[in-house]
Amino acid sequence: MWPNTELTKRLGISYPIIQSPLAGGIATPALVAAVSNSGGLGALGMGYQSAEQIRRSVKDVRGRTNKPFAINLFAHERIAADPKQIGPINQILQNYRNELWIGLPPDLEHYAPPLEEQLSVALEEKVPVVSFTFGVLPPRWIQKLKAAGILVVGTATTVREGLELEKAGVDMVVAQGYEAGGHRANFLGPVETSMIGTMALIPQMVDALKIPVIATGGIMDGRGVVAALALGAVAAQMGTAFMACPESGAHPKHKDSLLHKTEENIVLTRAYTGKTARGFKNRFTTEMATHEDRLAPYPVQYALTRNIRVAAYQQSQTEFMPMWAGQGVRLCTSRPAAVLMADIIKEVNDVIAKIRE
Ligand SMILES: Cc1cc2nc3c(=O)[nH]c(=O)nc-3n(C[C@H](O)[C@H](O)[C@H](O)COP(=O)(O)O)c2cc1C
Repeated sequence: MWPNTELTKRLGISYPIIQSPLAGGIATPALVAAVSNSGGLGALGMGYQSAEQIRRSVKDVRGRTNKPFAINLFAHERIAADPKQIGPINQILQNYRNELWIGLPPDLEHYAPPLEEQLSVALEEKVPVVSFTFGVLPPRWIQKLKAAGILVVGTATTVREGLELEKAGVDMVVAQGYEAGGHRANFLGPVETSMIGTMALIPQMVDALKIPVIATGGIMDGRGVVAALALGAVAAQMGTAFMACPESGAHPKHKDSLLHKTEENIVLTRAYTGKTARGFKNRFTTEMATHEDRLAPYPVQYALTRNIRVAAYQQSQTEFMPMWAGQGVRLCTSRPAAVLMADIIKEVNDVIAKIRE
């Protein structure tokens, strides 16, 4: 009953289900391998990791599965911060550092790992899939990866972004709807113009692009997977659905929120990274919203809040730690990833059978 899509055929996998690359240590090698071993495609979120960390994670995944998997990187420009620009916001953030007993100042030298080094590891390790977000990889890198037999996938929030990625030569595009947990992938135009719901975005993207489209944002179970395929997507990419699995590296209190809070507790915020992201509302998101015009751009704000985030995790302080989540949060469960995959696969069959009745 399962359709063979361009993604399953290209990778030789059983099901057109992708576990979102959940950066920040949430998509652990154990989670990624469990999804790939269940016939889907697991993905490592490696945007924040150094080349060496990426190499270690890739080896870890390979020690757990011989099935295809993806790594995901951030395709943004290198950024240097203007001390005048960060002074006022850094002062505001100092209040939180004091409250969390953080003695050391933030590290303002290292904003993001060098993309070229990250890409070199992907190439050397010949990972089966490289996906990216926040922009367009340099076309010569897209060509290099493709020449090595790697499937290259970009992320778009509008049809215009999808066309730009297609022009740059990617094999497939992830279309990210407004419902999505974590960061908005937008890279053309202001974030406000990127807020298109998954239901509206997918068929428009499918019609406008010649290359295959993967749907993401708010897909939580078999019903969502069927809907994504019905809208013309070649796969469904799911993040929030996997975040409370035992294999997920999310903080236990974050998992607790995923299991007990609702879509009404979720906000869009730039407070942690400077780039708009969807997650649970807390004291930090609420108070920082009053300083919106002073926040530094991504990834400078990310560097400025680094020691606050680390301390909040260590001290289990949910009022200060980022807890990303998508709008489908009520459907989040804590099943092991292999069980969740088996249940989704069964639900898809049940939904299709029901539609046929
Ligand atoms: C905790 C978290 C981390 C994420 N990290 C990444 C990432 O590193 N790269 C990426 O392309 N997308 C990332 N995303 C976005 C997902 O790829 C995807 O758009 C999202 O999970 C879809 O919405 P859903 O959570 O409702 O399934 C992240 C999402 C979450 C919730």
